[in-house]
Amino acid sequence: SKPITKICCIGAGYVGGPTMAVIAQKCPHIQVTVVDLNQARISAWNDPDTNNIPVYEPGLSEVVAEARGRNLFFSTEVDEAIAGAEMIFISVNTPTKTYGSGKGMAADLKYIELCARQIARVSKTDKIIVEKSTLPVRTAEAVKSILQNTGNGVQFQILSNPEFLAEGTAVEDLHAPDRILIGGDTTEEGQQAIAALVEVYANWVPTDRILTTNLWSSELSKLTANAFLAQRVSSINALSELCERTGADVSEVARSIGTDSRIGPKFLNASVGFGGSCFQKDILNLVYIARSYGLQQVADYWEQVIIMNDHQKRRFATNIVRTLYNTVSGKKIAFLGWAFKKDTNDTRESAAIYVADDLLNEQANITVYDPKVGEAQIQYDLNYLATRSAEQNKELVTVITDPYETCKDAHAIAIMTEWDEFKTYDWQRIYDNMIKPAFLFDGRNVVDKKKLTDIGFKVYTIGK
Ligand code: NAD
Ligand code: UDX
Repeated sequence: SKPITKICCIGAGYVGGPTMAVIAQKCPHIQVTVVDLNQARISAWNDPDTNNIPVYEPGLSEVVAEARGRNLFFSTEVDEAIAGAEMIFISVNTPTKTYGSGKGMAADLKYIELCARQIARVSKTDKIIVEKSTLPVRTAEAVKSILQNTGNGVQFQILSNPEFLAEGTAVEDLHAPDRILIGGDTTEEGQQAIAALVEVYANWVPTDRILTTNLWSSELSKLTANAFLAQRVSSINALSELCERTGADVSEVARSIGTDSRIGPKFLNASVGFGGSCFQKDILNLVYIARSYGLQQVADYWEQVIIMNDHQKRRFATNIVRTLYNTVSGKKIAFLGWAFKKDTNDTRESAAIYVADDLLNEQANITVYDPKVGEAQIQYDLNYLATRSAEQNKELVTVITDPYETCKDAHAIAIMTEWDEFKTYDWQRIYDNMIKPAFLFDGRNVVDKKKLTDIGFKVYTIGK
């Protein structure tokens, strides 16, 4: 097969942006164009100062600075980019459906279908279509059916190439992935398409890390990987509550079981609950698929991971209210961190949103500081829940760009994200400016409990 020289990626989000930037960096002989309907997003990707790109990831602005304008381009000219490319990645969002059948569970595939129809309409030459978005099993079939019925003689091959990067470490993960997974048809044309994509990745990924399989196994592997990872977090979080009751220490338990090579040490940090755009959405989708095949026990099993996570977020808020003498009405609670994990500006499904919402229902006043998330995003996240009016959220929640100011005169501090900088604050200064007793609820086990207790804080951590 002919080597690929022009790639187009539809969707310039948290996956499309970083993935294509790294492909362009590692394959200077391939022209990569990332397109999106969102003009503001594309303009931000093209900002002369690469520190202003719309996705914050350590190391990403350097990669973009290296490749942009050389062989990496960001544009809103979707048709033109599709027409010119030999290989098209679909990296659009696949959120949980908010309407109709499967509401609240199934993946909403309308953006995927729109892409497929647009590709079908615009293409004049044969193309390889790569599903980069996370999709339910057998989505490739629907995409294929749309593309193969255009009647214009253009040939399409569909590949599944799910992305395993984690936010906050995206560049690192893309530079040295544990594996690249490529699913395709078992036909000769399908195998040629797989080979063409393998050749792209082989520019920097050792070939023994590039796994190829059939389409359906590839699609299902992505949902499975996220389900297993999220299940680990819910498992350790479930035990954190038991630790709190029994006097065991969840970090010690995690350390002890993590040395068993079959269990492994990673992903065993108890927390206020997992967030992010993927875990909940993908598990709900898995549950929905299992139910749709009548597999109730399978569906219930995985659903429990979500139930446990919701419980973990809720009990964190409940504990704050209970500890503050059963009322937070009119009290000031300072949130340190709003992003769903450190080193990202992404807030989707962040535990902070739900904990804040619970506390606002108890009429708390909340101040928020996050090193990478601003006021507009925080208000948007709260308004999206539609629990109260935008005016009320604005009145009750104040976003401040200085952490010391955020904590001043607070009754309690809640650490919601594990940003490294929280460890090095002048905690004595923070304590001196708070209302006493000064409570601190560490949702991420980041601060030194002994040191802060010695200062005078009443410290509550997860699982201890
Ligand atoms: P995102 O919302 O950040 O980006 C998606 C982009 O697609 C948006 O900018 C949107 O404007 C654009 N878009 C939608 N329809 C379009 C169309 N018809 N034409 C042009 N542009 C269009 O989403 P994301 O976080 O990048 O996720 C994308 C996919 O990757 C999802 O399926 C997700 O499940 C999967 N995924 C995400 C992660 C992650 O860490 N965020 C990791 C692995 C996989
Ligand atoms: C996840 C998968 O890790 C990645 O492979 C996939 O491509 C996308 O979904 P992401 O959601 O970006 O990545 O971040 P991840 O590091 O998995 O963290 C998810 C959530 O779990 C975060 O809120 C994080 O704080 C939480 N978490 C993670 C814990 O609470 N404890 C842990 O031990 C690990």
